[in-house]
Amino acid sequence: MNIVRFQIKKYFDKLANGDWQKFYGTEINRTTYNFLTRKSAVLKLLGDTAFTKVLDIGCGSGEYLDIVKQCECQYYGIDFSEEMINRAVEKALSQQLSNTHLFVCEAEHLPFNENYFDLILGIGLIEYFEDPIELISEIKRVLRPGGVLIMQSFQYSFYDVSQSLSCGVKSVFRKRAVMQENIGLKVFHRRHSKNSLDTLLQNNDFMVLDYAYNNFRVIPYPFESFFPKTYIRISERLTLFFPKRFGYFAANYIGKYRRN
Ligand SMILES: C[S@@+](CC[C@H](N)C(=O)[O-])C[C@H]1O[C@@H](n2cnc3c(N)ncnc32)[C@H](O)[C@@H]1O
Repeated sequence: MNIVRFQIKKYFDKLANGDWQKFYGTEINRTTYNFLTRKSAVLKLLGDTAFTKVLDIGCGSGEYLDIVKQCECQYYGIDFSEEMINRAVEKALSQQLSNTHLFVCEAEHLPFNENYFDLILGIGLIEYFEDPIELISEIKRVLRPGGVLIMQSFQYSFYDVSQSLSCGVKSVFRKRAVMQENIGLKVFHRRHSKNSLDTLLQNNDFMVLDYAYNNFRVIPYPFESFFPKTYIRISERLTLFFPKRFGYFAANYIGKYRRN
């Protein structure tokens, strides 16, 4: 494992034993709103997609294990963070979920045969890849032709522009990667817009089936933190009435693709 990946793995190992569980907590704040609405957008996008074997790449603490409760399927979750997988195993055991298979491994080297899965999830994942082609090729290898991929990307949105502007004009040009220092570790979060993610996947034999946005951040930096309830209320309205418009305000883009 290279040094950058090792750093990311360490970051998630630490997070798994720290604040991560709060991100999916029941108290609604700016952070939980992002994670919870992302999850509901993914599940809604999944809709009535038929599948028997699902692979959740970078499954973290297993928040998407809920899928097992909704249908008769085999759920495979992989993550290179042992601590995240430990949390996911605890969750599966406490909810007595059968049909779940959780492994520690790297997304670039999946221990599965060609065409094994009919559904793959990549949520909160692609932003950690310097070379996303490595990830996409491996997904393509294990997803059967006609299988479905749901991939979420972290966008450079209106909020980030306002933040960059207030932090200095130079940083407006740092569009492609945002470095966050957290728990003493520096990790790059790479941005992909709807256009760049769709193009990346279309160039690699995937077809766009549908898409969604979540977390519309309409109040610019630094005012959003003063009016969290107002921003969440506006975001809820946009999600309800204009789910596919105003994408430039959304923190996340979620694409649903079919492998050709
Ligand atoms: C932001 S978390 C998202 C977790 C989960 N998908 C969710 O949405 O709740 C990203 C996860 O991807 C994992 N990850 C990042 N790069 C990876 C890689 N190259 N191989 C395997 N897992 C990776 C991290 O360890 C982390 O648990």
